[in-house]
Amino acid sequence: MTTSAYLDHAATTPMSVAALEAFAQEAVRPGNASSLHAAGRAARRVVEESREQFAAALGARPSEVIFTSGGTEADNLAVKGIFWGRRAQDTRRTRVLVSAVEHHAVLDPAFWLAGHAGAEIVLLPVDADGVVDLDALRAELAAHAEETALVSVMLANNEVGTLQPVREVARVARQHGVPVHTDAVQAVGMAEVDFAALGVDALTVTGHKTGGPLGVGALLARRDLPIEAVQHGGGQERGVRSGTLDVPAIRAFAVAVADAVARREDRAAHVAALRDALIAGVRAAAPDAVLRGPDPALRPGLRLPGNAHFTFPDAEGDSLLYLLDSMGVQASTGSACQAGVPQPSHVLLAMGVPERDARGALRFTLGESSTREDVDLLVAALPAVVARAQAAGLVGGGRS
Ligand SMILES: Cc1ncc(COP(=O)(O)O)c(C=O)c1O
Repeated sequence: MTTSAYLDHAATTPMSVAALEAFAQEAVRPGNASSLHAAGRAARRVVEESREQFAAALGARPSEVIFTSGGTEADNLAVKGIFWGRRAQDTRRTRVLVSAVEHHAVLDPAFWLAGHAGAEIVLLPVDADGVVDLDALRAELAAHAEETALVSVMLANNEVGTLQPVREVARVARQHGVPVHTDAVQAVGMAEVDFAALGVDALTVTGHKTGGPLGVGALLARRDLPIEAVQHGGGQERGVRSGTLDVPAIRAFAVAVADAVARREDRAAHVAALRDALIAGVRAAAPDAVLRGPDPALRPGLRLPGNAHFTFPDAEGDSLLYLLDSMGVQASTGSACQAGVPQPSHVLLAMGVPERDARGALRFTLGESSTREDVDLLVAALPAVVARAQAAGLVGGGRS
């Protein structure tokens, strides 16, 4: 009988066997890809072949790939680098438009620019399912295109799984000559990600959510996009991202992404079937739980196939998480703590969820290795867990 269920694949998912083998093969070979001798040239060849494979999987050109240390670095490079690049061309361009439900890796650099570099942040509102308001974007750009440095709207939300109309965002922004960045960290291998077809100017990917290693990622960036370096040094990656290239990680990342994209439809069907069973099971086990984000039965195609997210009235998300963990079920509240204090998710608040309800959030995310037994273990544990968390929440009384 299964005694543990990992339902947190959106946090990180295990490396695929193919990626691990590719990593091991390169990890024992000497050679810095910037060195001129034979070992260095061999390492460079591995990087360039990986760049080609990676770009082809995501509808990009090899010259558009900038390898980074992960999604956070790629998002920082996009937000700060494009802001500085565009403002260098025209000092009026200080507005940064970001959706209100972006990951902190986008929101925090944007707010840092506001605090340190004179940026003005415009948060684009979302509807009750977390879908960005395109009319608000149109109105913003109609009024302020000349003062706008960039727009950043994620492809798929990491908490509630909402897929954003990024193609339309790019179409609207292009009419105004404003570049668009999209964070596709959660989308690769689960939804279609085609850089050219999306029409965006920059796109973030990370290794550890796609069956690749931790500590590697990439920013796809069009060659004509003005982008300033954030990290300076040896001038690697077109001078935009200095630092010795991590050859084994890049090789494994390319193998993982190519594989994740090639088998996307099968994986999506597998996790969607489990996700639907999970939603039905949670609703039966905890009838007052509320599904947040698009309901796949009502708005099909608007949600990542492996994501389910609920709020449980009168319970703290943290209590639910620890109680489930004690029964072998690993999930997430979906949002970060600040200084050890759980905060209601900015994503749920932007969707109009009252703060009291937002406190009882739990995210369940499925991956390739997820099984029906994982879902069954959660559903079996849930009634007792919710009852205990609700009792603790009411006794605590601190939830006004
Ligand atoms: C949407 C999104 N963007 C960015 C990141 C950060 O990526 P990384 O962990 O590779 O730094 C994450 C990770 O949770 C994410 O979910």
